[in-house]
Amino acid sequence: MKSTIDKISQISPDQSVVCIIGNDIVPERLILSKSEKEYAQRQLTNKEEFVFINSYNKCIYIVRLKEGQNHYKVREELRRSSYNLRKLIKRNNHTELVITSENVYNEAVLDFAEGLLLSFYSFGKYKTKEEEGVKQNFPAMLLLHGELADSEIKWLVELTNAVYFTRDLINEPVNHLNATMLAGEIKKIGDSAGFKVEVLTKGKIEALKMGGLLAVNKGSVDPPVFCILEWKPSNCLNKNPIVLVGKGIVYDTGGLNIKTGDFMAGMNGDMAGAATVTGVLHTIASTGIPLHVIGLVPSTDNRPGGNAYAQGDIITMFNKLTVEIGNTDAEGRLILADAISYASKYSPELIIDIATLTGSAAMTFGNQAIAVMTNAERKYIDLLDECGKDVYERIAELPFWEEYGELLKSDVADLKNIGGRAAGAIIAGKFLEKFAEFPLIHMDIAGTEMLKKDDYYRLKNGPASGLRLLSTFLKRIAADYSEKK
Ligand code: BES
Ligand code: ZN
Ligand code: ZN
Repeated sequence: MKSTIDKISQISPDQSVVCIIGNDIVPERLILSKSEKEYAQRQLTNKEEFVFINSYNKCIYIVRLKEGQNHYKVREELRRSSYNLRKLIKRNNHTELVITSENVYNEAVLDFAEGLLLSFYSFGKYKTKEEEGVKQNFPAMLLLHGELADSEIKWLVELTNAVYFTRDLINEPVNHLNATMLAGEIKKIGDSAGFKVEVLTKGKIEALKMGGLLAVNKGSVDPPVFCILEWKPSNCLNKNPIVLVGKGIVYDTGGLNIKTGDFMAGMNGDMAGAATVTGVLHTIASTGIPLHVIGLVPSTDNRPGGNAYAQGDIITMFNKLTVEIGNTDAEGRLILADAISYASKYSPELIIDIATLTGSAAMTFGNQAIAVMTNAERKYIDLLDECGKDVYERIAELPFWEEYGELLKSDVADLKNIGGRAAGAIIAGKFLEKFAEFPLIHMDIAGTEMLKKDDYYRLKNGPASGLRLLSTFLKRIAADYSEKK
């Protein structure tokens, strides 16, 4: 469940209101008693982050915009303020809540609403009793007031819808979501958003000889799937599609190189890349972005088992390269590599893969940056960086020098799936690059995707890292295309 969003042009005197302000002055148009106004003014003069007034028939929340050198940082502070207010707003049990602004930038109302919606999310479907915190007592309606284009509101609605179901998919445990069930969910989402979904099942994957996906699947009792998502509107502006590839490991035990200690915890979220690709396709399809985009999702669990693939195995990948298995826990790159070489059939303008790929990325950047490696033109990475700041899902680039690729040499096969302990995130990226015949951006979300605690509205467990970033990136690419036309 999620609040519904609507636009209003007139605020009535008995409606509860969040008012975002850009200075320390209580807006005249807020209907307050003299003493309430004086109290609010005192709080603002004391530089409080927000002021709360519980009038007899309504609540007023005044949120002071933080000052900052960078506009993107100011926007993020506002999203964080909404996270900080979420509990208070819930406690007041509003059925509807107006969000308005005074003396601030145009999209402030949207940014606040976005942060608030993302903060209200919870994964409570397996709770049988209603408890504090699980109660869905957020406002049923968020009413946005101000000069807002319908298209901007539509974007907010669809993007936050996508974040909700993407988080749901990531948070599902594997006993409720195996690869086939994931494909079923993707199909449902495609049907409702209007993009095409083709699901290749095991027989077809065998016929295509996707050796990476099949090897990882050998220890599983469930079959693998390979999903092809496609959004191709009649007005699309690009000749060659952009292909998104998402890692869909529905559970990563490590396989025979089993994860020890607590390292297996959270590995139901090892399909976050797959869920994110689905969320991005939903957003661009339901808002009608005029771009041809394809999503590829290889999916299986990675388990030890009687027939599990083993260290020392030599496998033949979809593109005929042979790979020596140095570690069965480096499984993500094997299923992604097959998908990346499969992408060649579309002659893509660009391939972007998104994956919870290495502990190394998490160790390097913690939860604050998505590790990015690329051999694509700078214009793409510059745009991705800009979008990353705007939505505050920042990227940090790692070098992608050819010397790192040399560490993947094998004595017995074309390459090996591991390359020593150092520079693990880069080596994993280099492995993928060997399967890419078209420009590649590789995004490793291992650090940003599995949060132990809330990072504001990026809620713990699976926050759906990279979804707002990639959706915004594609929207901007479409805008650049139409400008050039
Ligand atoms: N799914 C893991 C990566 C991961 C680790 C994601 C921690 C989120 C949090 C991946 O399949 C993996 O196990 N990678 C290994 C690779 C190694 C064996 C070369 C790793 O990073 O340890
Ligand atoms: Zn692994
Ligand atoms: Zn994994």
